[in-house]
Order: sequence, then C-alpha cells, then structure tokens
Amino acid sequence: MHQLGRLVKYDRRNVKAWAGDSQWRALRADFARFRQHGYNGWVSEGFWPVVIYRLQRVTENARPRWLWAPTRTVLALVRKLVALVTHIHIDRAAKIGPGLLIPHCGPINVHRDTKIGADCSLFQGCTIGAGHIPGGAIIGDHVHIACHSSIIGPVKIGDEAMIAPNSLVITDVPAGTTAIGVPARILPGKWRARDRASVPAVL
Ligand SMILES: CC(C)(COP(=O)(O)OP(=O)(O)OC[C@H]1O[C@@H](n2cnc3c(N)ncnc32)[C@H](O)[C@@H]1OP(=O)(O)O)[C@@H](O)C(=O)NCCC(=O)NCCS
Repeated sequence: MHQLGRLVKYDRRNVKAWAGDSQWRALRADFARFRQHGYNGWVSEGFWPVVIYRLQRVTENARPRWLWAPTRTVLALVRKLVALVTHIHIDRAAKIGPGLLIPHCGPINVHRDTKIGADCSLFQGCTIGAGHIPGGAIIGDHVHIACHSSIIGPVKIGDEAMIAPNSLVITDVPAGTTAIGVPARILPGKWRARDRASVPAVL
C-alpha cells in the first residue's frame, strides 16, 4: 500500500498492515477499494454508512468523552438519516477491518458483536446477526458475502471464503471455501482458486 499524493492505491494483500488500528487509514482504504472497483465513492450509497461507521469508531474512542459528546450525537442523527435512505445498518460497536466494500444500496444489518477482517465485501440484502447462542460472527480477511445471505450467531468464517447469494450460514466456514445454500453446505472454493484477474472488477 503506498500513497499517491493524498490518494491511496489499494493493495488488498497489504491493506491490513498499512491501516493498522487507524480508522482514518481504514476509511482511506475503503474509499480506495470503492474506486478500484469502479465506484465513485462519495456518491456511492454503500459508502455513506461506511463513512459514518468509521467516524463513530473514531469518536467512540476519543477523549475526553464529554468534549466529543456533541459530535457523537450529530453522528448518531446522521447515521439514522443515512439508514433511513440506504437501509444499511452497521452497529458502531462492530469491528470491521480496512477495505470494506458495500457496492450497492439495500437492506444490510451488521450486529454489534460482529468482527469482520480486512478487504471484505458485503452485498445488498445481507444480515450478519444474532442467533440463540450469544455472540457474533467472526469473519476473516478477503471474505465475499454475496447478496441476500444471512450469517447467524457466533460462527467463524475463514479468510478468502465466499458466501454464495441467498445462503444461510449457521456453522463455521473454513478458509478458502464456498458456503452455498440454506442451510449452507461447504464447497471447495473453486471461485477463489480461479485467476482473480478473470473476476470482473465491478461486481
Ligand atoms: C456462488 C458462486 C461463487 C459459485 O461459483 P462456483 O464455485 O463456480 O460454483 P458452481 O457455479 O460450480 O456451483 C456449484 C454448485 O452450487 C450451486 N449453486 C451456485 N450458486 C448457488 C446459490 N447461490 N445458491 C444455491 N446453490 C448454488 C450450483 O447449482 C452447483 O450445484 P451442483 O453441484 O448441484 O451442480 C457463484 O455462483 C457466485 O454467485 N458468485 C458471487 C457473484 C456475486 O456476488 N455477484 C455480485 C452480485 S451484485
């Protein structure tokens, strides 16, 4: 990951190390990823909730807390408005790595106990939510969560996994595999094994 002026050239392999714990860097990486996939970023409906989420993370940890209280209140209001327009709800307590791509507008819900790694994609109609067992999903790096899929409860999803469209994930998904169906069965992950260059940049 290196910088071109103030812009960032997106490097999916190094984005985690480059961003570290910085939500500002994570936001720059998110933006760079949107751009890399052919989206404008600032006028992409999926990018707005990501910006709000990153800002909420920044202000959540900012000290002294009382000084940041007005900013947190404004962000909470803006978040509500953005959620009303986009139907995308990302809980500010969720932990999400840099390079998150939400290409399309549409209902998305990310539960507060969720952990998502670096360079992941989240498509329209997805729920990462609570189940009857307490705890949230732990999702690795470079995971593609395709449209209208649900990941329920404290499941673990390994790096480079693919959650197929319309799938219901209620058990762990090993790294590099594809989870397909309701409930999801695990396939070897042909999709990841193919040359990534053959995957269209714009999904
Ligand atoms: C899920 C996906 C990765 C499967 O690719 P693949 O590894 O090449 O797998 P195949 O196409 O060979 O399908 C394997 C099996 O799963 C089935 N299958 C594929 N996608 C499925 C889905 N979403 N739900 C249920 N079954 C599915 C196939 O019918 C096939 O069944 P079979 O073994 O009984 O013949 C691919 O179809 C996909 O949907 N990619 C994501 C695309 C995306 O996110 N686009 C953006 C939309 S906005």
